[in-house]
Amino acid sequence: MQPLARDKRPFHFGTNFKMNQTPAETARFLADLAPRLNQNRVPETVRLFVIPPFTSLPMAIAARETAGLTSRVWIGAQNVHWATEGAYTGEISVPMLTSIGVDLVLLGHAERRGLFGETDEALAKKVPAALVAGLQVLLCVGETAEEKAFGVGPETVTRQLKIALHDVGNEALSRLLIGYEPVWSIGAGGTPARPQDVMETVVPLRHALTEKFGAAGQNVPILYGGSVAPDNCGDFVTLEEIDGLFVGRAAWQVEGFERVLQAALVARGDIRGDAD
Ligand code: PGA
Repeated sequence: MQPLARDKRPFHFGTNFKMNQTPAETARFLADLAPRLNQNRVPETVRLFVIPPFTSLPMAIAARETAGLTSRVWIGAQNVHWATEGAYTGEISVPMLTSIGVDLVLLGHAERRGLFGETDEALAKKVPAALVAGLQVLLCVGETAEEKAFGVGPETVTRQLKIALHDVGNEALSRLLIGYEPVWSIGAGGTPARPQDVMETVVPLRHALTEKFGAAGQNVPILYGGSVAPDNCGDFVTLEEIDGLFVGRAAWQVEGFERVLQAALVARGDIRGDAD
């Protein structure tokens, strides 16, 4: 597979609601999103995704269809187990997600790793299980503040990536997305990364992807996440290796989702700004 030129690589943009939004609130978000995409002339080539809690997934899928967004917005789950079924109380399997029409699964988010003990070894089983079943996988990697202070950010994320992708073959690669989210940049106490922080880490990540998958590794989208907001998103989307944004708080309400998306597309030159 030939590497795609930067202007041919699709831009990805989405949000993770974390433990927020009831099914009704999720449905309203999707209903309100459709007219905003048209109003802002968001190109059809932009790949959008929304990752609500498990309880909102069926409603999100129905609301997306009603809003006419089925081909434009992927609906994602926030986690999945690697086994197809079994005695795993509280867990959800890949067939459970695919049977209701879920498109994507988020794996390795910093909160799952940090608060719920998700390990690289567990991810090494989850990522291939989800990819093989046809789900898109958004695999998150990121170093902590301590790891950054000790100068081992690039090694940390490369290690996370290599373990999680150990059993992934090239045939599944078109469904893989990587989210680079420095742990110190996430959430209310987080500081947005500087462009040089992002490049310092993302270049070794890209190198690890091409080492494992050859030229096809160039086409795996790498998204930035962590305190993304309308006033800083331009710093990230103009970086050579960044193919999208993964947004938390700033996009939980549809007005915010629209504002960040619009600012990112203006910064990329995909749409015109108000001042143009
Ligand atoms: P934030 O969250 O944008 O609220 O910092 C990002 C994330 O956790 O993915």
